[in-house]
Amino acid sequence: MYLIPLLVWGAVMSCCVPFGRQTEVTSPDGRSEVSLDVDDEGRIFYRVLRDGRELIRKSMLGLQTREYDLEKGFEILDGRTSTFDEEWQQPWGENKSVRNHYNELAVTLGKDDGGRLTLRFRLFDDGLGLRYEWELPTGEIRVERELTEFDLAADGESWAIPANFDTYELDYRHMPLGKVSDANTPFTFKTTDGIYGSIHEAALYDYPEMVLRRNERGVLAADLAPLPDGVKAYVPNRFTTPWRTIQLGDRAVDLINSALILNLNEPSKIEDTSWIRPHKYVGVWWGMHLGTQTWTMGPHHGATTENALRHIDFAAENNLGGVLFEGWNRGWENWGGSQSFDYMKPYPDFDVERIAEYAREKGIELWMHNETGGNIPEYESLMEQAMGTYAKWGVHTLKTGYAGGFKEGYLHHSQYGVRHYQRVVECAARHHLMIDAHEPIKDTGIRRTWPNMMTREGARGMEWNAWSEGNSAVYLSTLPFVRLLGGPMDYTPGIFDIDYSTANRIGRIPWNGDNSKCCVKTTLARQLANWVIIYSPLQMASDLIENYENHPAFRFFRDLDVDCDWSKALEGEIGEYIVVARRAKDRFFVGAGTDDRAREVKLKLDFLSPGVTYRALIYADDPASDDPESYLIREQKLSADDVLEIRMAAHGGCAVSFIPEK
Ligand code: NOJ
Ligand code: CA
Repeated sequence: MYLIPLLVWGAVMSCCVPFGRQTEVTSPDGRSEVSLDVDDEGRIFYRVLRDGRELIRKSMLGLQTREYDLEKGFEILDGRTSTFDEEWQQPWGENKSVRNHYNELAVTLGKDDGGRLTLRFRLFDDGLGLRYEWELPTGEIRVERELTEFDLAADGESWAIPANFDTYELDYRHMPLGKVSDANTPFTFKTTDGIYGSIHEAALYDYPEMVLRRNERGVLAADLAPLPDGVKAYVPNRFTTPWRTIQLGDRAVDLINSALILNLNEPSKIEDTSWIRPHKYVGVWWGMHLGTQTWTMGPHHGATTENALRHIDFAAENNLGGVLFEGWNRGWENWGGSQSFDYMKPYPDFDVERIAEYAREKGIELWMHNETGGNIPEYESLMEQAMGTYAKWGVHTLKTGYAGGFKEGYLHHSQYGVRHYQRVVECAARHHLMIDAHEPIKDTGIRRTWPNMMTREGARGMEWNAWSEGNSAVYLSTLPFVRLLGGPMDYTPGIFDIDYSTANRIGRIPWNGDNSKCCVKTTLARQLANWVIIYSPLQMASDLIENYENHPAFRFFRDLDVDCDWSKALEGEIGEYIVVARRAKDRFFVGAGTDDRAREVKLKLDFLSPGVTYRALIYADDPASDDPESYLIREQKLSADDVLEIRMAAHGGCAVSFIPEK
């Protein structure tokens, strides 16, 4: 059936491509193939084959700008292929060592006036990236539209959040590929041919984010977040766009195990990374979302000196690394109003210098928090000085937040936003601060270049369980195959008090709507598993610390080491279940989670180090009880030759720590 279009395409290719100029490249394993073509009007197209079959049909490339025609009138001047293969190390990550192996095709197209556009493709075994690089005989250009299309040849299923230029905190839509009118990326799909894939972007700098929208030709194509004047991007006449990426795999978990997004980013610009340290943390945080505490000063103020010292003691006693305080600085009265915060002045009941000293003495990282409310001009005018002050207090970790619309009609995900988020990362690097950004720009792997960009939100996190219908087990089983393909997430897992009985006993101030019927939508064992499944180098135990005190299951978090050396998603299906294993030094950790169905998984333990016997502590759902807080802990001696039977309740999960026997 698909032979005829192939032959037609072949004829088009050979008539338009000057002899000897390369316009095709295959992946190192030979399974993926990209070809580029120019039609009679000089418009540019590409096509992708997978295992000899069409994955992306002839799809358009190019841009519309006000100053220069980057859409048509091109002829191919040069086409070269090359190969690259290296193993590189990162200071932290799911895997410390990463292989970057690709074949590249760079096709330079030109016009008589000297304008040059290079299309660079990199083909890896796990997918591909393509980007535009231009050099034009004009000054600054205004990008009005990017034309990149992704015309998927087969139908199938897809999973993504809708396109939205202001928020990623949206639930997933699982829908037939042909029915998708718009989507944000990562846009994950499974074709009827059985190919798993995900469209996203890598190395997003100085350019708006890309979403997908069906265009006038009925094809899913790039759409860029606009600036208030309708222009998408103001860029120089020499410019390189972010990569447009398509990750590919035979199994759903292959997408998670792909390092393609990181490989398409540049090496680190930070030489001394000794101050960048993955760690676990707790915080004065959940109380505000539940309504037992407030960010503002008053009788229920969370960030008080007394509370701070109590949290630092708890962190020190429980093998944790840091403590976050929200509501420590003045200005929370203005949140949702003028959005004006003071980033240096603590509330009078928060003795920041004493707290910082106490944290230092106890070897605990004090986290600062900067909620900006989206007031970018104010934050940019104060951040350098504020971060300098935090550095003097010995602080190395900063959580930022943008809960509120940007001023003057700017959108969070526009070029304006992308530039701002990047300025923060670079300013933080100068002051040796690690960043955890909430309401961030999407993750496109810039952590490789800026390893202080540790983690971010960028999806519905735990907070949604406090004041909305909450995050379902289906949502949680989709997250690893969609949002998490971009990179680490500060989901803030680990609520043990599933029905909020502690909070209800304390008394809750209604906040962000009626919260009286809210609860966590999973079992407690799944909360433990999420600490492994949802990768973050800064991993929070988000519950009120009184819910952890003397709780046997908290041992899992105490034992957990978030400074990973190796990770692998072992099994899973999108929206259904997921099993992930990680190694940190000589310990292994497994997290498994299911959707709204109970499930059994027979897990081969052949990822464990050979010849070592491990003391495995297995935290599982209690089959004898419907109470989501009910769990069992059992101990087993296990090795790489064994198979572990994991039984999960509906909405449940399982967490296992493997500690080698000495
Ligand atoms: C939203 C963030 O996601 C949450 O973590 C934070 O507590 C609030 N904004 C207040 O900054
Ligand atoms: Ca948020």
